Formats: sequence, C-alpha cells, structure tokens
Amino acid sequence: MKNKIVLLLLILTHTTTLSSQNYEVEIETLLKKMTLEEKVGQMNQYTGFFDVTGPAPADGDNKAKYDDIRNGRVGSMLNVRGAKQIREMQKLAVENSRLGIPILFGMDVIHGHKTIFPIPLAEAASWDLEAIEKAARVAAIEATAEGIHWTFAPMVDISRDARWGRVMEGAGEDPFLGSKIAVARVKGFQGDDLTASNTLAACVKHFAAYGFAESGKDYNTADIGSSTLHNVVLPPFKAAAEAGALTFMNSFNELNGIPATGDKYLQRDILKGEWGYDGMVVSDWGSITEMIAHGYAEDGKHAAFLAADAGSDMDMESHLYKLHLKELVEAGELDIAHIDDAVRRILRVKFKLGLFEDPYKYSDELREKNLLLHPDHMNAALDVAKKSIVLLKNENNFLPLAKTGKKIALIGPLGDDKTSPLGNWRLASDDGTASSVLEGLQSYAGNSIQFSKGINFASDPIHFVHELKINTEDRTGITEAVELAKGMDVVIMALGEHGVQSGEGRSRAHLGLPGLQQELLEAVYAVNKNIVLVLMNGRPLTIDWADKNLPAIVETWHLGSKSGNAIAQVIYGDYNPSGKLPMTFPKTIGQVPIYYNTKNTGRPGPIDLVFWSHYIDETNAPLYPFGHGLSYSDFSYSELNVARLAMSNSISVKLLLTNNSKVDGNEVVQLYIRDRVASVTRPIKELKGFEKVFLKAGETKQIQFTLTESELGFYNNQGKFIFEKGDFDIMVGGSSVGGLADTIKL
Ligand code: GLC
Repeated sequence: MKNKIVLLLLILTHTTTLSSQNYEVEIETLLKKMTLEEKVGQMNQYTGFFDVTGPAPADGDNKAKYDDIRNGRVGSMLNVRGAKQIREMQKLAVENSRLGIPILFGMDVIHGHKTIFPIPLAEAASWDLEAIEKAARVAAIEATAEGIHWTFAPMVDISRDARWGRVMEGAGEDPFLGSKIAVARVKGFQGDDLTASNTLAACVKHFAAYGFAESGKDYNTADIGSSTLHNVVLPPFKAAAEAGALTFMNSFNELNGIPATGDKYLQRDILKGEWGYDGMVVSDWGSITEMIAHGYAEDGKHAAFLAADAGSDMDMESHLYKLHLKELVEAGELDIAHIDDAVRRILRVKFKLGLFEDPYKYSDELREKNLLLHPDHMNAALDVAKKSIVLLKNENNFLPLAKTGKKIALIGPLGDDKTSPLGNWRLASDDGTASSVLEGLQSYAGNSIQFSKGINFASDPIHFVHELKINTEDRTGITEAVELAKGMDVVIMALGEHGVQSGEGRSRAHLGLPGLQQELLEAVYAVNKNIVLVLMNGRPLTIDWADKNLPAIVETWHLGSKSGNAIAQVIYGDYNPSGKLPMTFPKTIGQVPIYYNTKNTGRPGPIDLVFWSHYIDETNAPLYPFGHGLSYSDFSYSELNVARLAMSNSISVKLLLTNNSKVDGNEVVQLYIRDRVASVTRPIKELKGFEKVFLKAGETKQIQFTLTESELGFYNNQGKFIFEKGDFDIMVGGSSVGGLADTIKL
C-alpha cells in the first residue's frame, strides 16, 4: 500500500503543473509503468449498475466488475448515477489499483441533464448557435455537478429519412447547419477551460453514416458513395474534431460492407490520419461483439482484434478487449503499438480533464444539490424551447390568439402529458416534470380553458428500452372530446408522438399521427374548424390532411422541462415564433428519403411526357421544405447584390431585409449556392450561410455574407477538397424555397 501512495504522490506532484504543460511526457512516463493487463484495462468500459442503454452481456455481473475496478482493469464507466456513488467508485479505482489511474465517468447527456432542453432536432430548428451552445453548457454544469466527466454527445449524424427514430437526436439533413451546430455543442459541453470542474468531454457520434440506415431501419446497412460520404456525412464530424472534441464514438452500422467499429479507413486513415485527430474513439454499446452478427468477425477474439486494429480505442460493454487483447498481443497477432496508441488517447482525455490532479473534483454533492434544476437553468430551457418552435401554417393570421374572452378547448393525448415533452434521451430527469400544454395555457388567466384527452394514444413503457403499446381500438373518449369542441371559439389539438416514440430503436414505417389521433382530429374538425394543431413529435410527420384543412399548425417537437410554457407564449404571441425546419417534411412516406439539396438529374422536368424524374401519383415537392418557418412578422427581401471580391474567388453577397409588420421579430436569413457545372455533380441548392436577424416593426437592415473557396468548393470522389471556377447561382431567403437569386461567374 505504501509504495502505491508514494507512486500516486509522484504522479500527482508531477501533474500539479500539468495544467500549463504538455501532458505527453506524463503520458509516456505512466505508459512505461503500465503492464499489458493495465493497458488493456484502460480500454475497457463498463456500464453502471442502474441503467442499461443497450443489451447487457451475460458476464457483466457486478462482483466481477468491482474486482476489475479494484485491479485497474476498468478505464471508464457509464451510467453511474450521483456524486456520492461516482466518488465511491472512483475511490475504489484510485486507492486500490496499483497505479491509481482515475476512471472516466460517462453518460448520455444529450439534451440537458436534470433540466431538460428541447430534443436536439428541435434545438436545430432554432438556428440559434448561441442558444444551442448555452443549452449544452447548462447540461454540462448539471452533469458535472453530479460527477460525470464525459457525455456521449453531440450526435452529428446527418439524415434524410424521418423513418429513422434517431433523427430526434441530430441536427437534421444539412451538413452546413449540422457542422455549425456540432461545433456549438462541443464548445458548450467542453467550455473554455477543460481543467475546470464543470466541463464535459464531448463525444462526436456515430462515426459514421449511421443516419443513412437503409429504409430508415435502425442499425441497418448504410451503403453510400464517396461523394455523399465526404460532402454530406463527414463535414460535421470534421468540424467537431477541429473544434477540439475530446472523443468520438463509432457506430453500429456497416458502411459499404465494413462495420464502422472495425473500419480502419474511417478511424485510422481519415480521423486519426488525414484529420490528425489525437482524441479517443469509444465503440458504441457492444458494437465490437456485433461484428460477429455482421458476418465480419468469426468470434469474440477476432472481433476484438478487428476493432483494436481498426482504431476503436475503448470497448463499451462488449467485454471483448478485457477477454482477448492481452492474449492477442502476447501471441504476436495484435501490434502492441495499437494498444499503446489507444491507451495514450485515453490517458490524454483524463489528463486534459484534470482527473490526475484531482480524481474527485467533479463529484461534489453540494454543487449537485445547488445546481440541478437551478432556476437559471429552467429559464435557459424556456428560452431555447421558444426559439425551437416552428410556425408551419398560419392562415389569415389565425395566431396569436387573443388572451382574454375566448372559450378554448384543449384536446388530445399530449395536452396534459408531462413526460413526453422530456423527449427520449433524458436519463437523469424524472417523469412527469415537464410543464404540459394545459399548464402553459392555464398560466394565462384571461381565457376559459377546458381539456379533454380524447384518446390515450400510447401506454407508457415499463422502461424506455421497451416498446410502446399504441391504442388502435379504444375510442371511448372521442365522443366527450367532440362534445367539448362544439361551441368553442378555438380548439387547440395537442397531437403527435409519445416522448419515447422516436429515438434509438424507434424506426417507423408510417409517419402519420400514431394510433387513433387522426380519427380524433377529423371528428373534432367535423364540429369545429377553428383548430390550432400543436404538433409534439421527434421527427417530421406526414400531416398532409392537417395542412389542407386546418388554419394553424405549430411544430413544437419535444421541448423539455418548460415545454408547455414555451408553447403558450407562442400561441398567445408573447414570443414571436422564429424557428425554421432543419429537416424536410414529406407529403407522404413514399417520398422518403426526401431532402432539399438534391441533384438535378438528367431529367429534372417537368415535361409533358412521363419521361422525367417524378412520381405519377404525387408531386416531388415536400409538404414543408428545409428552412421553412413562418413568423407573426412579415419579412421581405430586396436589393440582392452579388459581386466578386477583387483578385479572389470570393463572393460578397448583400441584401436588404425588411420587417413590414407591426410586430418585432427574428428572421433566419439563409444563403444558398448552386455550383452549376463541376467535375462531380453538385446539388441544385446548398446552404452556405445563415444569420438570425432581429428587426423591430418597420425596420430594414442590410445583411452581408462572404463566400470563399471553403464554401464554394466540394470533395471529389477521392475525398480531396477542391474548388472549380465556373457559374454559381446565389440564393437568399427565409427558406430553401423562394427568395432572391442571382448568378456570378468565377
Ligand atoms: C447506445 C447509443 C449511443 C449511446 C450508447 C451509450 O446504444 O447508440 O448513442 O451513447 O449506447 O448509452
């Protein structure tokens, strides 16, 4: 015991000046002291004894895990809850193992911790990078107060397929918006000084192309070409790596025949090679084992080899590194250099977080007690929630509603739901803690509000890992709801998806309102057409009927702890909605995958023959396009001026934005380009700039952008970024459809 304390003191004295010095010397010093078993131990990650977020292997019994922790055979744990519990677990490792290397405690802090923020797709609809960074910062403050060092976020998977349940967790379909949001989240989580005790190591996931799962089915095959990989999938990952994200997570899917966890091209050639990334890559839950099911590994030992050889540094809950790596190295089958590289990357994260200086700095019960659910955090959650709301339709300015003298019926299964608005990834929050739509509306005293659920559309799951049961038979509440709707001035319908109806493992083959909700909606509509649809969902839905028939539709996603308050403030006009869709809404599921930045094809049409790229039974147009979102203000664009900057391939873009209404508001000005002719075909439209602009009633502002080769260029099929001169269309507007356009030759 004595020599351990001496050793630990040695390391600690060495590390006291670490915050100012390069860690590399200390890492090498420590690495030299480590046995092969201790090195492999650092590459092993166990889940805590509370939540599982994936299928837990049989041999993960608690006693074995405790023994491994005591003997330095665990580098990280996830899902351990509470400052006290984490401190105890940390002491077990630091005070019992030979070298006392601290454990890295991780958790899925995806959209808030105890204070829940809007789901990431909703936050993306705010296009407000400051708000998004703030949300991540608050999440980090709360999670670190509980002792967590590392979050498995941001998820930066681009997806064009709303059938895929995890679109709720990302930033939508566009790589430019996705890259900006990825950086904002990394900065929010990691803060300005990683050695502070409220900074959370980010984990950029899932590397890569998980969002291109075929048919939108989770964990399914992703098979995409080089141009889509380099121009659509990888940019947010690269941006996050350049922003200093400490870790990456690889993905369950195979990409072009190779499971990402065993993909050397992705992890060693691109991430660690071309991009020079010095952080650590963790596998996804059990994804090393899953290479057997993929038909890529013969058995656990082979899977362990493939993953370690490909650059997957840490093993989340497959236990295969612990079981096989030592033997593989001793048999000369696995290069010890790969083990040393992985361990260096893991130790680097721990050094950067200051864990060697003080392994217990994060687990602070007083901070935990004072900071979780802090009123400032709730206010931040309300602010981000309001900014995430998208006004999809507002015929004849049906909204905002008058605050007094109205008889209002609130109808729908989500109207009083205080759990679903918390969304899917909310491990640390408590059910029933979100403000409901009903509570939000009731906080305005001037109108009479009466509520009827209409139907129970889904049974709450036993645990978020279990399937929901969707009600498709019990109509008993519809009559009551229809009776209530009669004679009301306005009916607000709160419909959509249960909070765990999107997210991991929740792919859907139908994108309409689940269960009997559409039936309820049409039954109410038959007696009262003055309906505001408040949509609460984790993905784009096919609401074509609602769009055709209802005067007002508000997309409110799952907005977190302050959901109901945010919705009410928009309904009553105390907040002027400014959100814009980060993902296209299809008219029908047959159009999926559907997205704005498509290629022109050789037969863009329309022509009066059938021989062009279209459907004979549906238009090509979506229900609502990427970038769409209305306001209570009325914005107009004028005087677009596009000019080449002297002696360069840069373009200056200027325009006037006017608020023609009597209502102050925010507009997200979007800048798109089209590279008309290139050696690899380019999309008909690509987002290359945006600015959220506040304009007072009647105000006009000049907005300016500069486009450089970084925005005008693209990756060729060899993965090389190139710029090619030629004609560029420049488009600006409040959506990816419409606006002003000009063309310039470079
Ligand atoms: C899950 C998810 C991943 C998450 C991890 C730990 O299966 O795919 O996003 O971070 O396991 O919970």
